[in-house]
Formats: sequence, C-alpha cells, structure tokens
Amino acid sequence: MHPMLNIAVRAARTAGNVIVRAFEQADKIEVESKGTNDFVTNVDIAAEQAIVDTIRKSYPEHSIIGEETGVSDGKDSDYQWIIDPLDGTTNFVKGIPHFAVSIALKVKGKLDQAVIYDPIRGELFTASRGKGAQLNGFRIRVKQNKELAGAVLATGFPFKQKQHMPAYINMFQALFTKTSDMRRAGSAALDLAYVAAGRVDGFFEIGLKPWDTAAGELLVIEAGGLVTDFTGGHNYVKSGNIVATSSRLLKEILKDIRPHLGTALSK
Ligand code: IPD
Ligand code: CA
Ligand code: CA
Ligand code: CA
Repeated sequence: MHPMLNIAVRAARTAGNVIVRAFEQADKIEVESKGTNDFVTNVDIAAEQAIVDTIRKSYPEHSIIGEETGVSDGKDSDYQWIIDPLDGTTNFVKGIPHFAVSIALKVKGKLDQAVIYDPIRGELFTASRGKGAQLNGFRIRVKQNKELAGAVLATGFPFKQKQHMPAYINMFQALFTKTSDMRRAGSAALDLAYVAAGRVDGFFEIGLKPWDTAAGELLVIEAGGLVTDFTGGHNYVKSGNIVATSSRLLKEILKDIRPHLGTALSK
C-alpha cells in the first residue's frame, strides 16, 4: 500500500472509532446549525481533529482542507488533503447507521489517494491513482450497464438549496420512469463508493462540495467509471453538480438531465 494511503487509512479508522463510540451514546451528541438544514455536531469536529492530527504527525508540510475547520496551508502545497470527517451527519444525528469518513489526497492538483470508510459495516474503500479501487482489499469495479432499464441509481436531494427543487424533480422524474428504482441513502461519499463497487449503477446530485466528492471521484475512476458535471464536462469541481457511472450509462443519464438545466441551475 502507498505510504500516504496507509496514513489516510489510519486517519479514517481513528475517526471512525470516534464516530462509532459517539453513535452508541446518542445523548452526548451536541448538534449545531450552520445554515438551513445544515448541521454539525461535536463529533464531526472531533473526527476531523483526529484526522488532521494523524496527517500532521506524518506530513506536517502538507496542506489540508477540512469541511469543519477550513483550509490550512502547509509549506508543501503540492500535497493537499481533502477531508469530510463525517459524511452523512443528518443520518448520524437521527440514529440511522449509514455514514462515512472520506479522505482524499491530491498531488499537484491531481487526485492520488482516496479512502472512504463506513465504520458501522467495517467497509474500507480505497483507491490509488493508476492502481484500481478496492473494498477491504478486494478489487471492485463499476457495473457496465448499457441502459437505464434494470438500473438502480443513487441520488441526493437538494435539501440545502431548495431553489433547485423544480429542476431536480424534473430530472428525477425523467430518470425514475426509466430505471428500476432510486436510492437516497444520505451519504454522497458512500453513494460514490457504491457506484465504484457496482452496488448501484450510477449516482447524481446537485451542489456537492469538494470534500463530499474528492475521494469518491478517484474510487469511481479507478473502478472503471466516469465522473462528470451535468453536461459531460469537468465543471462539477466548481458547481458540485455531479454524475458518476459507467461510460455507457453516462450518455443515457445526461440525456435526461440536460433538458432541465436553466438559469437557476447550470452545469
Ligand atoms: C451531505 C451528504 C448528503 C448530501 C449532502 C451532503 P454531510 O454531507 O453527503 O448525502 O446529500 O449534499 O452535504 O454534510 O453530511 O457531510
Ligand atoms: Ca456537513
Ligand atoms: Ca459531506
Ligand atoms: Ca461532513
């Protein structure tokens, strides 16, 4: 295993322990609001601290972007870690056991290492640039479906940006009528990991942040899939509007998404 992936795994497992311990003592979870339908808990912050401490111990010069503590620039900005300490905070707060730790490393602006860890199921998804993607050490691959018939897609609702609801509902309807079913499980990182593992055939969501998608993006690509914005380009890094699936299904999904882009929601 790449030494930097090894550190990422150690950090993810440490944060996972913090999260699971807290999940079992729900009365000690303190919830605060960051904005409309946007929550953070003492556990998100403790998990992020545990990850930052682990990375800093080995790589004090690297820069780190974390959802809860922001950006810290190290001297060696060729290396940038992107952390979501607890993806699925709403699930966590409600007692729904579906959430993950997501850690990615970019080297000179390119995704290089990725970990998504589901601490409840003990599932560790990993990827290294050019080396494929694994679940608990076993190779995983994106399902290569040709058509939406028979497919199950994962998605997320735009619960923080309800101005996008009309466009989203239209996309959802167009896709839902063609697919077998949809899943809204509540963790974008796990949605992407499940695409990589072939558990769902694709994933789309509006307005995600870099820490939601960075690790999952490398996992999907290394598992033989594609990640694009809503027109097939690369604007998702900025817009957070993301589609992840096989190359064959991508065309079909974009066909049902594109007509509903407009002034409120672009690529
Ligand atoms: C959220 C989850 C959710 C997605 C939201 C994200 P958080 O991340 O990934 O599935 O729909 O857009 O913000 O806030 O729980 O880390
Ligand atoms: Ca959050
Ligand atoms: Ca997140
Ligand atoms: Ca989070």
